[in-house]
Amino acid sequence: MISGHMSNSSTSFDVQSFRSQFPQLQSQIQGQDLVYLDSAATSLKPRRLADRLHKYYLNEVANIHRGAHFLSRQGTENYEAVRSQTKKILNGDKGEIVFTRGVTESINLLAYSFGFEHLGLGDVILLTPYEHHSNIIPWKILSENTGCQIELLDFDRNGNITEAALNRAFSKNVKLVSMMLYSNVTGVRLNVEPVLQKARSVGALTVIDAAQAMLHETIDVQKLDCDFLTFSAHKMFGPFGVGVLYGKSEIFNELPPFQGGGSMISSLSWTKTVYQDAPFKFEAGTPNIADVIAFGEALSMLEEASLENWVQHGKKLGLQVEQALKSNSRVQLMGPTYAESRKTDIISFSYEGAHPSDVGEMLDQMGIAVRAGHLCAQPLMESMGVQGTVRVSLAPYNNENDVEKFVNAMEKIKGIL
Ligand code: ALA
Repeated sequence: MISGHMSNSSTSFDVQSFRSQFPQLQSQIQGQDLVYLDSAATSLKPRRLADRLHKYYLNEVANIHRGAHFLSRQGTENYEAVRSQTKKILNGDKGEIVFTRGVTESINLLAYSFGFEHLGLGDVILLTPYEHHSNIIPWKILSENTGCQIELLDFDRNGNITEAALNRAFSKNVKLVSMMLYSNVTGVRLNVEPVLQKARSVGALTVIDAAQAMLHETIDVQKLDCDFLTFSAHKMFGPFGVGVLYGKSEIFNELPPFQGGGSMISSLSWTKTVYQDAPFKFEAGTPNIADVIAFGEALSMLEEASLENWVQHGKKLGLQVEQALKSNSRVQLMGPTYAESRKTDIISFSYEGAHPSDVGEMLDQMGIAVRAGHLCAQPLMESMGVQGTVRVSLAPYNNENDVEKFVNAMEKIKGIL
C-alpha cells in the first residue's frame, strides 16, 4: 500500500525529534497517552512558541508604533519583522499583510469593507459547496443587508469543476469569488486556479481561505494571483488570536476601514479624517503584539522545514488510516481517497448505527482526540446526506504508533457500538 518513494522520504524526516518539540504529546488523557488526531481544528504548540511568549511577557512588554522609548521601538521592530516574514513565506512582497484575529475576522473584514461599499442588488458572490461557516455567514449577512446574491460553484467530490459549470457560474454579474483551498471536512484540494483565472477575466475580486493549507502546500500568492488570501496562525503551530490577511496593495488601499481607532489614521480633526495606507488602516487599536511576535517562531519552523517531507510523512500515515477505515464494514468514508484526488491529511467518516459524537466519545475514552459533528460545514453535511462525521486529521508530529492506536481503538468500538 505504501510506495517505496514515500517510505524513503519519510525516513529522511525524523518524526521522533520533531515530536519532542511538542511537550503536550507527552501528556496523558483519561489515564492514557495522548493520541492527538485533531490538528485540523488546531495544531499543538511547539515549546519555542511558549518560550517566546514567556520571554516577551517577562521582558519585552511595551505598546508599539507609538512609544518614544527603547522597548516600544524594539516591539515595533519585532512585530514588523513578523509581517515581513509572513510576506516572504507567501511570496507576497507586492502586497500587504494585515494581522487579524483569524480567518473568520479576515473574511468579515472583507465582507464589511468591500461588500457594503461595492455590492448590491443584482450582484453575485460565488462560493463553493465545501465552505466552512466562516466563509458563508459573513457573506450571508452581507447578502441579507444589500440584496446581493450568493451562488455556488459546482465543484465535484474530487475538487474539480468543469468548464461548462464555470461558464454557467460566471454567466451572471459576479463581483466576488471566495473559496477554500482545502476542505476541512474531506481534505480535498479544490482546483481553484481556473476559477481564479475566470474571475480575473471579468474583474471579480478573489479571496482564498487557506486555513487548512499552510502545513501542506507552499502558498505563492503571486502564482495564485488571488486578490486576497487568509489563514490562521493557530492551525500551523502558531498562537490563537492571530490571522493573516494578504491582499493586493492597490485593492486594500481602496477599501474603507473595517474598524476605527488608534494607530490607523495619519491625521484627524473634527472635520477631516485621513487614514493611513494598508496595512495600518486595517489594524485599529493596540494589536495582538505578543502573539504576533511569537507567531514568528511558527513561521520559522515552516522556513526551516522541508514541506515535502512533511507532506510525504502525512500521506503515508493518512493512507494507513484510510486503508484501515476502508476495511471496516461499518465505516463509510466521506469524500475522495488519496488515490482519487489531491488532498490533505484529513479523513472523515460516518459509522453505521452510531452517531459521530458517540464514536468521538469512545475514542476519547481511549485517549484519542478526534473531532466529531458538523465540523462548521452544515451545508456540506446536508449535501452529503449526513448530520455529521468523525474526523481524523494529521500533522507532521503524528507517528505510526498514533495510527496503530487509532486502528486498534476502532476495532474495539466495533465490538461495543
Ligand atoms: N475550522 C476548524 C475545524 O474544522 C475549527 O475543525
